[in-house]
Amino acid sequence: MDTVRTIAAMRLVRTQLAEPVGFVPTMGSLHEGHLSLIRRALVDNASVAVSIFVNPTQFGPGEDLMRYPRDIPRDLAMLANEGADAVFVPDAAEMYPTNFTTWVTVEKPSERLEGAVRPGHFRGVATICAKLFNIIRPARVYFGQKDAQQVLVIKRLATDLNLDLDIVTLPTVRAPDGLALSSRNAYLGVEERQAATVLSRALRLAETRWLAGERRADVLRREMAELIQTEPMAQIDYISFADGETLTELETASAPALISLAVYIGQNRLIDNLVLPQAPY
Ligand code: PAJ
Repeated sequence: MDTVRTIAAMRLVRTQLAEPVGFVPTMGSLHEGHLSLIRRALVDNASVAVSIFVNPTQFGPGEDLMRYPRDIPRDLAMLANEGADAVFVPDAAEMYPTNFTTWVTVEKPSERLEGAVRPGHFRGVATICAKLFNIIRPARVYFGQKDAQQVLVIKRLATDLNLDLDIVTLPTVRAPDGLALSSRNAYLGVEERQAATVLSRALRLAETRWLAGERRADVLRREMAELIQTEPMAQIDYISFADGETLTELETASAPALISLAVYIGQNRLIDNLVLPQAPY
C-alpha cells in the first residue's frame, strides 16, 4: 500500500494504479461504515485509493475541527489490512495553499437541512471532493447514505461539471442497537452513547407508522419529536420529512421520502436518516 502526503506524489502513484480505480474519500478515524465503502470499492475495481483529510473548510466557526478524532497510524493499519492500494493523507497547506480562492458551490441541494444549519459546510465538501476527484481521477467514487444530503450534493456536482465518474451510494452501517456508526460517536460518554440510540429509534417509529399507513408528515414529525423528548439528554436540532430528490418538506409522506434528523446528545450533534420505503440495496 502506497501512503503519500503530497499531490505530486499522489499523481505519481496514480500512474501505477490498475484501471479502473475506485476512490473513497474520508476524514479518517475509520470505522465499519468507511470499511463497507472500501470493501465494495475493492470488489468493483482493479485498485482502490482512499483519502484521509479532515477538511477544515467544511467546518464552521465553533464546530469541532480542532477536536475531530484523528488516528492516522490506526487508520493506515486498517487500510493495509483491507487491501487498499493507495492512501492520500495531505495536510491543510497542501490542499489549501496561500492564495487559494476557488470554491465550488452546489446551490439547491446545499441549501436546506444540514446546509441551512451549517452555512458553508457543503461548499467545503464540494470543493474538497472536486479537488480530490481531479487528483485521483477515479472511475467510481463511494459515499455512505449516512450523509444523504452530501450524496445529493456530490451527484449534482458530478452532473453539472460533467465529471466522468460513477457515484456509488451504500447503506448506513449501524451498531447492533441501531446507532449509525460515526467518527463523532467517539465523543459520547457512556450515558450519552446510550441516549444516542434515540435517533434511530425515532426513525424506526416513523417507518413503522408509515408502513401502517400514516402519511401525514406533520403527525410523523410530531411523533418522532415526542419520542426524542422522552430522552433528557437529547435536544432536537431538526426533524425533516422531505422529498428524497429536492429536499422540499412534504405534507404527505409519499415515497420516496427522506426522513432525516439532527439531534444534540449533550454537546454532541448527531445526524441520521432513513429513506421510505427502504431502498432495496
Ligand atoms: P467521513 O465523515 O469520514 O465519511 C466518509 C464516508 O463514509 C462518507 O461517504 C460517509 O457517508 C461514509 N460513512 C460515514 N459513516 C457511515 C456509516 N455509518 N455507514 C456507511 N457509510 C458511512 O463524509 C466525509 O467524511 C467528508 O464530508 C468527505 C466526503 C470525506 C469530504 O471531506
